Amino acid sequence: MNQHRGDEFKQLQRETYDSLYNDLDFALYKVQHPFRQYFEHHIVSLALKGLEGSERMTCLDIGCGQGITTYVLSKHFNRVVGVDFSRGAIRTATAFLEAMDVENATVLVGDVDNLGLARDSVDVVHFKDFLHHTVEPLRALENLREVSSQGRVVGAEVNGRSPIMSLFGRLAKHERGLLDSNRQWLSDLALAAGFKEITIDEFSFYPYPMRIPIIGDRRLGPLLPAITAVETFLVKTPLRRYANYLVFDASC
Ligand SMILES: C[S@@+](CC[C@H](N)C(=O)[O-])C[C@H]1O[C@@H](n2cnc3c(N)ncnc32)[C@H](O)[C@@H]1O
Repeated sequence: MNQHRGDEFKQLQRETYDSLYNDLDFALYKVQHPFRQYFEHHIVSLALKGLEGSERMTCLDIGCGQGITTYVLSKHFNRVVGVDFSRGAIRTATAFLEAMDVENATVLVGDVDNLGLARDSVDVVHFKDFLHHTVEPLRALENLREVSSQGRVVGAEVNGRSPIMSLFGRLAKHERGLLDSNRQWLSDLALAAGFKEITIDEFSFYPYPMRIPIIGDRRLGPLLPAITAVETFLVKTPLRRYANYLVFDASC
């Protein structure tokens, strides 16, 4: 469990996201394209489904990237703070939240290994697609547990058992950590970090996160109901083991 991926890995993450998330148009595409829009909203709704009264709560969105998850969370929480250690990502996220007229969310540069936030400073922590990018996932989870007054961390991690994600992990160096990420890994980590209860559900078979020109074409929007119906069916079968994401809710 006490995995340390090395300082070069951390540098690689920072440099990758400084350049990858330096594009406001890419962020806007993610909330405008019908498939992507569905994915971004649905995955957050699944992560929050066991949380009551979120509209009165504060939320830290760690590893917020271009601010897409921060924006979606702002629809559910009273106040959201997005934090990411990539300055390029935070620059884009600031412009993105402004473009989306979001008034109850802000974003800051910060590192999960040294958050600089007081104990219990937010109600709940959220992350999506983040833990496998950290240099020391256990320490990251312990730090996040401390800043949540409810001792609660919710969100979604990549499932390394998914053929699509596994291929991605083999092709892209900064995604290598996802090869370790699976249901057992996530659950063991959460228990080691001091969480007492963890629920994990699988979600998504379609490669939403990838910008595949043909499949990602806007004109395919009318196919969305068919795709979501197939996904809803698949997560009820043993094939859920191969879904792209593990949606989790961990509490103390
Ligand atoms: C795959 S992106 C996910 C972005 C966003 N949560 C989403 O789902 O759209 C992972 C993000 O984690 C950030 N990250 C990685 N290690 C971090 C660390 N130690 N502290 C803060 N952010 C970190 C990266 O800069 C990157 O923006």
